[in-house]
Formats: sequence, structure tokens, C-alpha cells
Amino acid sequence: GHAPREQWSGQLGFVLAAIGSAVGLGNIWRFPGVAYENGGGAFLIPYLVALLTAGIPILLLDYSIGHRFRGSAPTAFRRLHRRAEPLGWFQVGVSCVIILYYTVIIAWSASYLVFSFTRAWGDDPGAFLETEYLQATKPGISLDVVPQVLVPLVLVWVVTIAILALGVQKGVERANKVFIPLLLVMFLGLVIRAVTLDGAMDGLNAFFTPDWSALSDPGVWIAAYSQIFFSLSIAFGIMITYSSYLKRRANLTSTGFVVGFANSSFELLAGIGVFAALGFMAFQTGVDVSEVENIAGVTLAFVAFPQIISMMPGGPVFGVLFFGSLTLAGLTSLLSILQVVSAAVQEKLGITPRQAALRIGGVAAVLSIALFSTTTALFLLDTMDKYINEVGVVGSAVVMTLVLGLVLRRLGEQRAHLNDRPGLRLGAWWSVLVGVVAPAVLAFMLVQGIRSLLGEPYEGYPWWFLNAFGWGVVGLALLVAVVMTALRWRRSPDDFTPAELS
Ligand code: PHE
Ligand code: NA
Repeated sequence: GHAPREQWSGQLGFVLAAIGSAVGLGNIWRFPGVAYENGGGAFLIPYLVALLTAGIPILLLDYSIGHRFRGSAPTAFRRLHRRAEPLGWFQVGVSCVIILYYTVIIAWSASYLVFSFTRAWGDDPGAFLETEYLQATKPGISLDVVPQVLVPLVLVWVVTIAILALGVQKGVERANKVFIPLLLVMFLGLVIRAVTLDGAMDGLNAFFTPDWSALSDPGVWIAAYSQIFFSLSIAFGIMITYSSYLKRRANLTSTGFVVGFANSSFELLAGIGVFAALGFMAFQTGVDVSEVENIAGVTLAFVAFPQIISMMPGGPVFGVLFFGSLTLAGLTSLLSILQVVSAAVQEKLGITPRQAALRIGGVAAVLSIALFSTTTALFLLDTMDKYINEVGVVGSAVVMTLVLGLVLRRLGEQRAHLNDRPGLRLGAWWSVLVGVVAPAVLAFMLVQGIRSLLGEPYEGYPWWFLNAFGWGVVGLALLVAVVMTALRWRRSPDDFTPAELS
């Protein structure tokens, strides 16, 4: 016999873990900048359209696959169709790549949490980040280890591997039950403080003032769809894996709406907090909000926020709230993506959750430390993130929706599986959105993304570097798909009874 499959203790454990996965760096440092640059208040229209026409429908598709076929992404796709297994492993490969650099950002956040007290960044946080903290050289290959990054990175790995090794219920679920409420409290504290600062209202005005002409720009619509995909963690295999641990009678559809709206609410809150703080910075330095740079990504978190923290009375507390939120949001997302790889390997190789956590975590830790505790971390991270999201994640979503809809015509069955349980009932519109609208929008995004990557060198980095680490990581995910599919299953994923899938 074999151990019974792991399960969430109940619906709440799943909802919190799913929200924990969705709410991540994308909400805090990506959404505010994307919204601001794509129409401000007017962006909320394409954003809501993308959420309702593609985000939540594909989230529910992920749930229906994971829950119906009760397995990690490769197991679930294999049970859907014998030849669909590689798609699951491709999602695992994409997850492996993201794990490598996501951990590093969490490690930086943890360092900056400490720096909030010492204000280690001095008068010029930009210079501090690049030359002192990261000791960044130029895009290339380096073996020079940066100790102040190495230490927090090792710590993040120890914590994550320990949680993962405890299993779904005792590890991942319990961690989320502590981290998510804590994150909510800290982030609310941050937003309340931010909106009461001088200049906050100018920041909010800049953020919300609608530029209606943006609505006729296709680029704005693409930005909305890509934000929704990344932000809801769909087509990474995450939601397939997490929903496979739900009880058979679980409510899937209402849960999907709850998770989708919770994630978007957090994004909106982050937009308010970030722009109120940027308004304060503009006020202090006497410039207009529209002239403030560094409104997204690494520079927002590690250059603009340090500046804001230095200018503010009670700055250290604000710093703890900000970098603490970033660390917690990142950790809960990291756990979810590690679980994708762990579950897949457990099932294919017939090993326990603990064995999988130690082996996967061990290999990933060594790789991420080797690649990212060195002086080229910043350029590597930037390149891997760009290519794996624009090609890997979007490509996987196109193939997944096409395979389920046009190729295998299984959307009707998946909808019946969702509708057979308590919760909202989905009409035929769901199949149209998932089977036709989503693949069309996604395929357009994929082509646009690839064309822009081939056109001009991203960020002006050397072509050899972009080819090696950008296309290289996409190739790595494909390699994982081919090699892992070819391995033998310890226990065949095909021996299930039809009753088990109902
Ligand atoms: N949904 C996450 C976010 O918004 C994205 C993500 C999830 C990335 C899990 C990696 C792992 O930040
Ligand atoms: Na998100």
C-alpha cells in the first residue's frame, strides 16, 4: 500500500494558501506601476475585463484539472490524456526557473528589513544597492560571491525547505495561516500611515486620474491581461497542484471568485499605499509626482522606498512594515511554486514529501546561491524574469487552453465537474471564454512578446547574455519537459477508477 494523498484540513486552509500564492511581488511592486503607466484610473476598466474574461475563468480551469484528476500538474495532465504529460512538466520547468530568482528577492527584502533600522543605504540608495549591497558589475558570468546576499539567501532556503518538508497541512497550510493574517495587518498599517503623509493626495491623484485615451491602445489591454495572468498565478501549475489537495465535495467556483477578488483588492490597496508614499517623496523633494522615477520593480522597492523611509519620522517602523510585507508576500508565493515541483517529483519517483522537499530544495538552493549570490545577480534576475514570463508562462497558457478546448474538446466535462459541486454555476459562456477568447488573446500576447524580444536587446544587455540566460531558461523548461516525461513512473498515474474522478 501507499500513504493516502495529502489534504488541506478544510476549505479555509486552501483559500488562505491560494491567496498566499496569488498575493506576491506582483501585487506590491508590479501592479501600481503598470496601472499608472497604462491609463491610471482608466486602467481599471481593461483590468476588470481581463479579470472577468480570462483571469477567473482560467483560474477555475486550473482548479477543475487539479481537483478532478487529483494530482500534480504532470499527473493531472497525464490523466487528462496520455500525451498531455509534457505540458505538466513544462509548467514544472517554468516553476523551477522562477524559484531560482524569486528566492533572491525575498533575501534582499529580508536584508533591507534590517537596514531600515540602520539606514545602511545612506544618502544615495541607488548607488548603495548597486555598488555596495549587490556589488553589481555588468551583465556576464561571475564567481565573486557577495557575503551580505549569501547569508540571507541561505536563511530563506532553510526556512522554506523546513516548511515544505512538514507537508501540505502541517507545513504549507500552517505557514499561510500565520503569514497571511500578519501580512494583511502589516500592509493595512503601511497604507494607513502612507495616506496620512504630506503629499499623499497628490500621489493618489496621479495614480487615479484617468487617461481615457489609453482605452483605445491595444498595448494597454495586453498589459492588463498580462498583469492578471502573472498576478493570479495561473498556468504555472500552482493552482492545479493546490486544488488537488481539496476534499471531493469542495466548493470550487465560489472559492475561485473569492481568491480572484481578494488578490485584486490587495493590488488596489498596494496601488494606494505605493502612490501615497511616492506623493510624499515628491512633496519632500519638491518635484511633481509625474517626474518621480523608480515606480516599479527592484528600483521601487530598493531605491525609492529606502529614500522615503529616510525622509520620514518613524521611518524604521515604516521600513519594517514595507519590507516585512514584501518578505511575507514573497515567501507564501515561493512555497506554492516549490510545491508544484515537489508534488510532481513525489508522484513520478514515488518519494515522500519530506524526501522531495530536501532533494528539490537542496538542488534549487545550491543553484540559486551559485547564480545569485554573485555580482551579476541583478542582470540575471531581470533577464530570466522577462523571458520566462513572456514566453514560458504565456506559452504554457496558450497550449493549455488550446489543448483542453479545440484539440481535446474536454471543456464541457471540466465545467460539469465544477458545476457538480456546491458553489456558483457556470454557464456555457465559461467554455467560450476559456476555449476561444483566452487562447486568442494569449496567442496575440505571445507573438507580440517574442517579436519584441527578438527585435531589440532587452535593456541593452549583450545578445550572448540574453540568449544564454533568457532563451536558455526557456530551453531549460523545455528540457525538463522532455527528460521528465521520458522517465518511468514508480506508480502508474493511470490506475485510477472513474469513480475517483467524479
Ligand atoms: N502571483 C504572484 C505575484 O503576484 C506571482 C508568483 C506566484 C510568482 C508564485 C512566483 C510564484 O507576485
Ligand atoms: Na498577485
